[in-house]
Amino acid sequence: MTFSCPFIIIVKDYFVNQTIVAFPRFLGERFELLGSVEIINSQLIGTGSCIPDFVLTNAMLETMVDTSDEWIVKRTGVRERRIAKNTHTWELALGAAQNALADAGISAEELDLILVSTCTPDTNTPNTASVLQDKLGARQVGAVDINNACAGFVSATDIADSFIKAGKAKTVLVVSAETLHRITDYTDRSTCILFGDGAAAAVYRATGNENVGIQSTFIAADGSGAEYLYMEALPVEDPFAAERPVDPKARFLKMQGAAVVRFTAHAVPLAIDTALQRAGVSADEIDWVVPHQANLRILDVIAKRYHLPKEKVYVNMDRYGNTSSASVPICLDEMRKNGLLQAGQTIVCTGFGGGLTYGAFVLKL
Ligand code: UT7
Repeated sequence: MTFSCPFIIIVKDYFVNQTIVAFPRFLGERFELLGSVEIINSQLIGTGSCIPDFVLTNAMLETMVDTSDEWIVKRTGVRERRIAKNTHTWELALGAAQNALADAGISAEELDLILVSTCTPDTNTPNTASVLQDKLGARQVGAVDINNACAGFVSATDIADSFIKAGKAKTVLVVSAETLHRITDYTDRSTCILFGDGAAAAVYRATGNENVGIQSTFIAADGSGAEYLYMEALPVEDPFAAERPVDPKARFLKMQGAAVVRFTAHAVPLAIDTALQRAGVSADEIDWVVPHQANLRILDVIAKRYHLPKEKVYVNMDRYGNTSSASVPICLDEMRKNGLLQAGQTIVCTGFGGGLTYGAFVLKL
């Protein structure tokens, strides 16, 4: 039986003969927070990252596959990447989350929602977000994984922003954590030169100030290009067959790199244009583009397309390679720590990759 009044809900659970008292945390909070103002934005209040120590250089890769430092630097921009040997994805996620909470100056108990983007979870169940909820000591709030490949952080931010704008959450943690070495074939020179491991997190909090926070978001997918970036999760098989052969390479990511580059040529401008339009922001108002660190040539195309000096398109893939969904928040955290992000700036973040998925958001600091 349930009795309710505006301030308290009492649930009598006859099965365990226990009385549960649940405060309707968000009931009316929208108005409590903002009075009669109808606008809620999601302000970035903290970032953190967790970068593995082990450095895999181009010189090391030269000893593993038929490649050269010159080819890798010229075609991708990557000089080295980090590898999280013998490390779980959740461990990277936890490190990043703790650093972000410390940066935001809040405790895990203040979180109303935990979102983890990863395409390299340790387990299919439990999801990484539930593991993180426990390890962080957060309350039993929603904890959801998002598998949207390299667009994962942008997608998770879109969801975080939607919860905040709907008044369903006040403070949301978004963590992107990847251990891509576990799905990388170190005999395939077309992929192993690109990918690295890492994690980073962002804390978003509701604000009534319309001039700061997430101004717009956009996400989309074109599943017709699924085969261009492909990794099997579970084999499709006859469970009753006499033999159930296991392909040791099935877990490795396969990529048709040139096809992905062609996709980015239209998908990335579409994502950025849409996010800018929705925010009512013009290209010349952009202070920084923070793109997924896929390939330096793609980032150069973005700079040209928006008539931005190259320095306004943030790059760190020379040091970390492509860390899939973690790449955008790793950039944000690095920029924040280096004092590159200042109040009043307008930032465009964009992610794109497997799915094929793509998206962007506009953030005012
Ligand atoms: O994060 C998700 C999104 N991912 C991306 O956006 C990745 C997009 N793709 C890329 O970054 C590029 O396509 C690659 C870096 C993967 C490849 O560069 P490319 O300029 O597209 O090269 P390609 O695949 O067209 O290959 C050109 C040549 C080939 O040799 P042949 O057939 O012309 O003789 C490849 O076998 O380069 C060869 N090649 C290499 N040579 C030396 C491919 N990988 C290597 C390598 N070292 N590591």
